[in-house]
Amino acid sequence: MKKVEISNLTENFFETIGKEWMLVTAGTPGRFNTMTASWGGIGWLWNKPVAFVFIRPERYTFGFAEQEEFMTLAFLGKEKEMRNIYNLCGSKSGRDTDKVKESGLKVLETDGGQVTFGQARLTLVCRKLYADDLKENAFTDKSVAGQWYGEKGGYHKMYVMEITEALIP
Ligand SMILES: Cc1cc2nc3c(=O)[nH]c(=O)nc-3n(C[C@H](O)[C@H](O)[C@H](O)COP(=O)(O)O)c2cc1C
Repeated sequence: MKKVEISNLTENFFETIGKEWMLVTAGTPGRFNTMTASWGGIGWLWNKPVAFVFIRPERYTFGFAEQEEFMTLAFLGKEKEMRNIYNLCGSKSGRDTDKVKESGLKVLETDGGQVTFGQARLTLVCRKLYADDLKENAFTDKSVAGQWYGEKGGYHKMYVMEITEALIP
């Protein structure tokens, strides 16, 4: 994998995250979990390039996200084969499924010991800076909380992370 300058990325992350989706992965090659995510963002905070993701506590990935200092965001592309991987990693849980085996993901280790995948066209290696649970009373538009939370599951936890590396194949 080659490192690219983070500040030179010209991705349209509205498209990349919202339409292409991403795999959020935490852990080491020996023990990790990955899941599909389509909510999150890329930006600039505390004078650092940052990524933020939202993970519900019921996800198996959540425990890994809590324990680990780093996570990776892997962008696989829009091809059908990649869509199949995203659909599998976004519908099955690592608690009872070997997602790597079932999806054909090829595990790669970054220089820092994090996990990404051979299929990724771009990987952002991220280090956690701030994490907090979303709370009902913090929604200034209560209809958003009503639409997304309640019977549909627990409030997401938000992780704000420094992007420490951008990697391409
Ligand atoms: C397109 C798509 C986007 C998703 N985005 C998120 C997300 O942003 N946050 C989240 O907690 N779950 C999201 N999910 C759900 C998880 O990917 C799904 O529950 C997954 O099976 C969790 O796997 P795990 O239990 O192995 O962590 C998304 C699923 C799909 C299909």
